[in-house]
Amino acid sequence: MNRISFFLLLLLFFQSCTNENKPALRIGFSQCTMGDSWRINQWEAMRRELSFFPELSLDLKDANGNTQKQIQDVKQMIEEGYDLIIISPNDYQLSTAIDLAYSAGIPVLILERRTASTNYTAFVGAENTQVGEQAGNYAHSIATKPNTQIVEVIAGSTDSPAIDRHKGFTSGIASSKNVVTFPVIYSGDSDSLKIQKELAKIPTVDIIFAHNDRLAWTVSKVCKKMGISPKIIGVDGLAGENEGLDLVRKGLLEATVLYPSGGEEAIKVANAILKRMPFQRENNLFSTVINKDNVNIMFSQYQKIKAQQEDIERQASRIQELNLTFSTQRNRLYITSALLTVVVLLLATLYFLLQEKQRSNRVLEQQNKAIQEQKNQIEKVSQLAQKAVEDKMRFYSYISHEFRTPLSLILTPTEDQLAQKNISPQEAKQTFQLIRKNAHRLLRLVDQFLELRQLDAGKMQLESRDLDLVTFLKEIVQDFQPKAQAQKIDLQFFSPFSGFMYAFDAEKLDKVFFNVISNAFKYTSEGGFIHISLARKADQVVIQFADSGVGMTEEEKTHAFDLFYRGNKNISLGTGLGLALSREFVLLHEGEIYIESEKNKGTTFTIHLPVRIQIPTSQDSNEVPMFQKKERFSTWEMPIQDVQTSNSAEHSILIIEDNRDLNRFLSQKFAKTYHVFSAETAEKGWDILLQNIPDVVLCDVMLPGMDGYQLTQKIKADFRTSHIPVILLTAKSHLENQLEGTKAGADDYLTKPFHQELVEQKVKNCIESRERQRKKGQQEVHQPAGLQRHEKVFFTELDRLIEKNLADNSLSVEKLSSELGMSRVQLFRKMSALTGENVSDYIASFKTNKAKVLLQDANRNITEIAYDLGFSNPSYFTTFFKQRTGHTPTEWRLKIEKEGEKN
Ligand code: FRU
Repeated sequence: MNRISFFLLLLLFFQSCTNENKPALRIGFSQCTMGDSWRINQWEAMRRELSFFPELSLDLKDANGNTQKQIQDVKQMIEEGYDLIIISPNDYQLSTAIDLAYSAGIPVLILERRTASTNYTAFVGAENTQVGEQAGNYAHSIATKPNTQIVEVIAGSTDSPAIDRHKGFTSGIASSKNVVTFPVIYSGDSDSLKIQKELAKIPTVDIIFAHNDRLAWTVSKVCKKMGISPKIIGVDGLAGENEGLDLVRKGLLEATVLYPSGGEEAIKVANAILKRMPFQRENNLFSTVINKDNVNIMFSQYQKIKAQQEDIERQASRIQELNLTFSTQRNRLYITSALLTVVVLLLATLYFLLQEKQRSNRVLEQQNKAIQEQKNQIEKVSQLAQKAVEDKMRFYSYISHEFRTPLSLILTPTEDQLAQKNISPQEAKQTFQLIRKNAHRLLRLVDQFLELRQLDAGKMQLESRDLDLVTFLKEIVQDFQPKAQAQKIDLQFFSPFSGFMYAFDAEKLDKVFFNVISNAFKYTSEGGFIHISLARKADQVVIQFADSGVGMTEEEKTHAFDLFYRGNKNISLGTGLGLALSREFVLLHEGEIYIESEKNKGTTFTIHLPVRIQIPTSQDSNEVPMFQKKERFSTWEMPIQDVQTSNSAEHSILIIEDNRDLNRFLSQKFAKTYHVFSAETAEKGWDILLQNIPDVVLCDVMLPGMDGYQLTQKIKADFRTSHIPVILLTAKSHLENQLEGTKAGADDYLTKPFHQELVEQKVKNCIESRERQRKKGQQEVHQPAGLQRHEKVFFTELDRLIEKNLADNSLSVEKLSSELGMSRVQLFRKMSALTGENVSDYIASFKTNKAKVLLQDANRNITEIAYDLGFSNPSYFTTFFKQRTGHTPTEWRLKIEKEGEKN
């Protein structure tokens, strides 16, 4: 249902409510005239009766005594489709209109006057012949003397009352022997002149029968005027003033014949016809003669009736009021219920709409969810794609790095050897050992790649045999012992069993254990430990490798087994492949490997292997099959001897490189010319830096923990070290990496593999340029020009501190260095690196310059200036100033005064 039809229905509903009281049956009343009180009386009676039938309506058409008009009125009523027509015909000619209405099927009620037509449904009225006869009979009764003269005054000649009353009167007096003449006068109700004229023609008038009371009163007045007093009889017998009853009471009329209007009865019969109730076709009303004998009774009865009628009218109007109230209330009720219905409908619609909305919301939500899911999936796929691309990049980067380091260690020493004219046999042997070691490393890398490829292709299969796991592990650990001793690491293996038979692929687990132990060695420094233990837990063998190494961050831990993981550039390269391969091999054994680690505390690798076949400890180890291991270590894996560094060298260098071989190689090379400090981590390097303030730092970028960039930044941000040149050594050859290094404040960089000569040249350059700067600094009195930003900051801070403590005669180098946050040595090294001066000289230069400025002010005396500059004795100031300028303060003042005058 749409909104328009809904409101149309509503309108119809209201219409039906308001139509409820509208009469459903329409009665048309064609009245011949309304020009007298009798007919007004009749109309009122009709209206009164009608109030009892609210379903009936009554429309009046007054023909004003015009027959033709009345015919037209009836025709119009026929056309308008009245349900019933009441006709009070003006005269006989009305019969045609009556026939018309009747033949149209409309019920016709003839009221009081008849015509020739019998085509009517009912007749209501008194019989005028009878009325005339009653008047005649009464005239006869009062015509007591012989030759009684009776005159009849008739109002009209063509209407049925006139004709019938005359007829009845004539017959009423016919039997009277006293009546002699009977003249007839035709006159209007108030045509007194005509009456007088006609009466004057009659010599004696004893009785006059006037056809209605109005006519009778006119006659009475005429007679009075003429001085005659005949007995006048009228018709109608109304109760009002100067109406029939009143005139009889006043004695102006002898009598009046009651002629009831029939208004009330007409409505009753019409109602019966319309409602198809039984009714009489002929309804003759009672008429009677009223004279002085019964007029009072009639009058009082009339009064009573009148009072009753008024009462009825009051009741009727009350009922009408009540009806009105009722219908108002009912309408209100209808409106209220209609509104309520509307509200209910609206609520229902609202509910429906809400349901709809909720439903569509749900659909939308589902769609959104589906879209979101699709989006998530797309994102996931794109992330995977992104990851695949990143993995690929990592792979290349990894390959490049993994190969670059051993290659550097083959190429660099080779180039170095080739460049040398004389090679000592010992040096040559060491170089070849290094080359062989790194060639083997490359070979192992290639093997590992192939193994991974096999794993990837799913071609790797377990070749398990029952072997003694305890002996197996013990032997591996044993192989590492020389290395542990060389690195001063406590390497131990613990087992509660002397033997433990277990089915495993020895070749693969050998690689796993080798890799895990190698990894532990890589991160455990001197004095640390590596403890390996075997235990049995339910149906699992648990092997733990605990070390006291540098430990891992959460991120490093999460990605330790990832192939080529470089999420955090700080993770040391070179561990990835071995550990990734190890995990794959453990998984092949349906085992698990995981890490527990804490930064700077150590790392524990735990391997769980499911026990399938377990043979209890066997005492007879001869029966136990052994794994024929390949040569795991040879001399090439053994550490190369320690570097002998020169203590007498003029300059010092700090080498930070986590690849031990490379570190050692570089250290050996630089040890010839420099005092060499070396570290494998940036953290350790920083400690050495602060302690020794070397002249130059050569640092790898990729380091475990703090990386080369971070260390460079740290060096450059600290007063104590900011002057030290930093050369970064990196396997990364991309421009962006070089940019990163420059941004961090590195003075130079080198990419691996590098030429040893080039490295040495760059280090040399750095030291020389620092030297040049130092010399230049020596020429400046203080704050050397051309300083780098961080050095300027250092000098500004230094000057600020000297200025602040100028008057303090106890200002010492210790105090100054501690306020700068440096040690005395650090400050000394920095000052001499930058200016070639020591700190005390710098303070003295500062004071001299300040004294020159103060001496320009002639208002200040020399003693005052001496104290201001922290001299406890003015003569000491004079000596100091003379030593540094060749003039006493007074001489200096005079000199500048003279120079001022010249200018
Ligand atoms: C009123 C009247 C009455 C009379 C009746 C006859 O119009 O003249 O006085 O009795 O009509 O139809």
